[in-house]
Amino acid sequence: METKIFDFRKEIKEDELKYCAKCLQEGKIGIFPTETVYGLGASALSDQAASLIFKAKNRASDNPLIIHISDFSMLYDLVQEPNEVEKKLLDAFFPGPFTLILKGKKHIPKTVNANLKTVGIRMPDNEIAHKLIAYANIPICAPSANLSSKPSGTTLEDIQDEFMGKVSFMINGGPTQIGLESTVCQVINGIPTILRPGKITQEDIAKVVGCCKLDDYLFKEATNTIPKSPGMKYKHYAPSKEAILLYSASEKELIALIKEKVKPKTAIIGCLEHQNLFPNCKYFSYGSKNDYETIMHEIFTLLRKVDQENIDYIIIEGVKKEGLGLAIMNRLIRSVSFNYIER
Ligand code: TXA
Ligand code: MG
Repeated sequence: METKIFDFRKEIKEDELKYCAKCLQEGKIGIFPTETVYGLGASALSDQAASLIFKAKNRASDNPLIIHISDFSMLYDLVQEPNEVEKKLLDAFFPGPFTLILKGKKHIPKTVNANLKTVGIRMPDNEIAHKLIAYANIPICAPSANLSSKPSGTTLEDIQDEFMGKVSFMINGGPTQIGLESTVCQVINGIPTILRPGKITQEDIAKVVGCCKLDDYLFKEATNTIPKSPGMKYKHYAPSKEAILLYSASEKELIALIKEKVKPKTAIIGCLEHQNLFPNCKYFSYGSKNDYETIMHEIFTLLRKVDQENIDYIIIEGVKKEGLGLAIMNRLIRSVSFNYIER
């Protein structure tokens, strides 16, 4: 398959974007930027188109896709009437890095939402994504654009080789603004529950509707249980080398813990302030230790970069599990396959 690459880093070229939209209407698949991570899109109205995504990513068929919309008129064709809490969340966080799980209508293709009764809906806050969906004039299902188990793509350069020849188009919109995927939230018994943390935090949601719960499995492996979000049970964001995540609220303890775990040919992903403390390791800084926005932005690219180094072992320095740190740690703990020590 020929893959056309379009570069919209300086400006959006409307005729090229319309070409991509037409590809989607015709049941083809392609890569586009959103404000969170790059997405691999297809028509959400077609089983056949959606199945191309599962094939290209090597994704398990029981892991549902999020449907992306460009305006509210698309929403009501896909879902049943939201309740009051859901309406408040839609008002507050659409468009944005927020996915709401709602009751789906019967006609949603089974391939798209893995034959569930619910469906995840998101309205991206990114001009290219918005216009692409609006020009296509159909809802677009899209997972993160990465091979299953790999870190999500936050630049086109990171994922280009994985999909060359497998998709009809790729749009380069530069590095994504946020760098981690959307917050996934479902209202359960009237209470919003975060199934995957992201830029929209527990505190943000509680401010709008008064309360917000965290799912029990944000930091635990969902074995011997049916997770509320099927994606939770799969391997994610993983580098190919053995990796460990370390954290201590005490700076001194954390540094001692890292020193204790260093082996020959170790790479460390950690904060800027610690970069000169481990002279025998390759050090990759994810930004200043309290700058969670920057850490969010850098982490997936670094997980890919470190994998290309001639090293045998990866140590990742964790952050505090609060505010945006919750989303960062949710991804990091999966990237090391739950190999985590907190002291
Ligand atoms: O920011 C994002 O959400 C990106 C961009 C491209 O929009 N998309 C994304 O999609 O991260 P994906 O497929 O990589 O992750 C979607 C997650 C999966 O863990 C999936 O299991 C969960 O959302 N999910 C989707 N539909 C669901 C549903 N009906 N019920 C529960 N979980 C659902
Ligand atoms: Mg993903």
